[in-house]
Amino acid sequence: MEIIAGKGARLCECRSSELQDNPFEKVRVPARYNGCHLNSFKADPKHESQKLALLDTMRFIKEFPAIDQGLLFIGPCGVGKTHLAVSILKGLTERGFQCVFYEFSSLLKEIQDSYNPNTKTSELSILSPVLTTQVLVLDELGASKPTDWVKDTMAHIVNTRYNDRKHTIFTTNYFDQRQGNEETLEDRIGVRLRSRLYEMCRVIEMSGSDYRVRFNSRGLNQA
Ligand SMILES: Nc1ncnc2c1ncn2[C@@H]1O[C@H](COP(=O)(O)OP(=O)(O)OP(=O)(O)O)[C@@H](O)[C@H]1O
Ligand SMILES: [Mg+2]
Repeated sequence: MEIIAGKGARLCECRSSELQDNPFEKVRVPARYNGCHLNSFKADPKHESQKLALLDTMRFIKEFPAIDQGLLFIGPCGVGKTHLAVSILKGLTERGFQCVFYEFSSLLKEIQDSYNPNTKTSELSILSPVLTTQVLVLDELGASKPTDWVKDTMAHIVNTRYNDRKHTIFTTNYFDQRQGNEETLEDRIGVRLRSRLYEMCRVIEMSGSDYRVRFNSRGLNQA
């Protein structure tokens, strides 16, 4: 990276050519998911839903773009929702498709931070790739407090992508059915957005224990 006087930071030539060599860098997947590939996902045999989720993921990559719906991964912490979503982005980037990854809360924060109260608009450079990329992963949907602004912003993104027949993949911890005192997906994103999501996505519910805990405490095979 080099700093050009008056022009802010600019990528040096060697870094630019690295980006061209590695189009996956443009997808913006956080480094902690570097190891997420289809072949590193080990479905827990005790939970059939994990095997089915893996099969749906493989089919999505293989059949894309001749596929009608995006995917909505629903499940508790650490069952591999983001792992599978990132695997899709890797598979499709390798096939030359344009993809972008965003965590729901970071996206909202970036849009909010770029808001200009004078013009009452947000920076188009942030929203534009989110609206136009061929495949968008929105990770941890519903993680931010559902204010009216959050609902309106999400509705704009989801509706625009839906109308343009772009594929979106969501992950969320919020279930459709109320589990005890937990909030539901509808509580977190509102009734209209939930309805649209069910139309534009195939729902993949995953069950299982937290892989992070299983792997770090006892070793995967003893879980
Ligand atoms: N079945 C699996 N096989 C291999 N690695 C897995 C599996 N499930 C999860 N992992 C790994 O465990 C970690 C957590 O998985 P991941 O982030 O995909 O969970 P998640 O369902 O998205 O959880 P959260 O709801 O907390 O975001 C990651 O490092 C991921 O690669
Ligand atoms: Mg996740």
